[in-house]
Amino acid sequence: MDKVKFLDLGRQPIANRFLNEEDFNDEFFYHLEVGFDQETMLVTHMNYVDAPMMFNDNYAYRGSMSRTMVNHFANFSSSIRGSLKPECKVLEIGSNDGVFIKNWNKENTIAVEPCGNFAKETNELGYKTYNAFWTTELADRILEEHGQMDFIFSANCMCHIPDLDQTFKAITKVLDSNGIFVFEDPSLLQMICLNSYDQIYDEHPHIFSVTALHKILRKHGLHIIKVENTTVHGGSNRIWVQGKHANRDRTVTDNLDAEKVLGLHDASTYNRFAESVAKSKFDLVNLLTRCKANGKRVISYGATSKSTTVFNYCNIDTNLIDYITDTTPEKQGLYSPGTHIPVITPEEGVDNTVDFAYLGAWNFVEEIKAKERNFYGKFITHVPTVRIL
Ligand code: TYD
Repeated sequence: MDKVKFLDLGRQPIANRFLNEEDFNDEFFYHLEVGFDQETMLVTHMNYVDAPMMFNDNYAYRGSMSRTMVNHFANFSSSIRGSLKPECKVLEIGSNDGVFIKNWNKENTIAVEPCGNFAKETNELGYKTYNAFWTTELADRILEEHGQMDFIFSANCMCHIPDLDQTFKAITKVLDSNGIFVFEDPSLLQMICLNSYDQIYDEHPHIFSVTALHKILRKHGLHIIKVENTTVHGGSNRIWVQGKHANRDRTVTDNLDAEKVLGLHDASTYNRFAESVAKSKFDLVNLLTRCKANGKRVISYGATSKSTTVFNYCNIDTNLIDYITDTTPEKQGLYSPGTHIPVITPEEGVDNTVDFAYLGAWNFVEEIKAKERNFYGKFITHVPTVRIL
């Protein structure tokens, strides 16, 4: 890879490793730098964190904690099911707590999930789940035990895997020649447009453009046939892939054209993005400091991986944010990675003593606003610019 560095997000911890006080002293940190690969046009970290450091038996992120995501996967499952044969074999890679596979029948659906806590849950629900990372060796094993798959799905997982060549090679092993592979991940175009640099953290070694995927998939005889732009996770792309050269839909060309217009093939775009990121840091710290200086109570809403990036890059700790609220039981009662802000339940923390709530989960702003109709304070966001909503 011929990577050129364009962004330095400083010293960062494991984004989803919420801690007890006793763990503060041996917390792991790494240097988060991001580059642009001139050959594949991939936006990718300069160095990768070892996968088991992030994905293990204590993994804290639960996909089904947001109604938006539950509905998103239910809607997609019902929309695609009609175009598949009833007995079709389905594989999900990165099944998390089963938020997608729960929409599919147990007899024909299998899953792969490296986090032991979640693999156990979906196995107990009756879905055969391999507790392993997605590799060519695992693909060979699945091929031997189940044969080829008609439909492979993966959400917010492909962009988690540093070695894309091995990843896609493994797909070609198990995908039936008439099969379909659909995956979705945050969109680079949306990240640039929204200045949402917090999409970048250890678990997202790549932020995908359609342009880069088109090049990388082609090396493996895989072809993008359709691209859907969805609103989840602050703007994602759902990429439809087939092994043989099928007719591609005009959405592929439309997305490639839009990315070209925005300059995603050009290193100077990323240098401008890095300048906007630095300005976002300056503005956010400034706003929070002013709130505090005026005696206001400021909290954070949603203990996200994204807010791990923001708080560590901007050095935001309990001097500026009193605590974070989050609905995930695995995060409550612990401290946020790196800057050690306590995480409590929304029931305990969202009350009329709060003046401002920074939206760590800005991507669920509509769901949160609807839920917190009676919230007395105001929300703060940094996306696309730092402001009070
Ligand atoms: P998400 O934005 O998917 O996080 P990440 O940046 O890690 O991918 O996760 C949202 C987090 O916010 C998750 O921990 C659950 C929490 N949350 C709330 O606390 N309240 C809410 O109303 C919603 C929608 C999410």
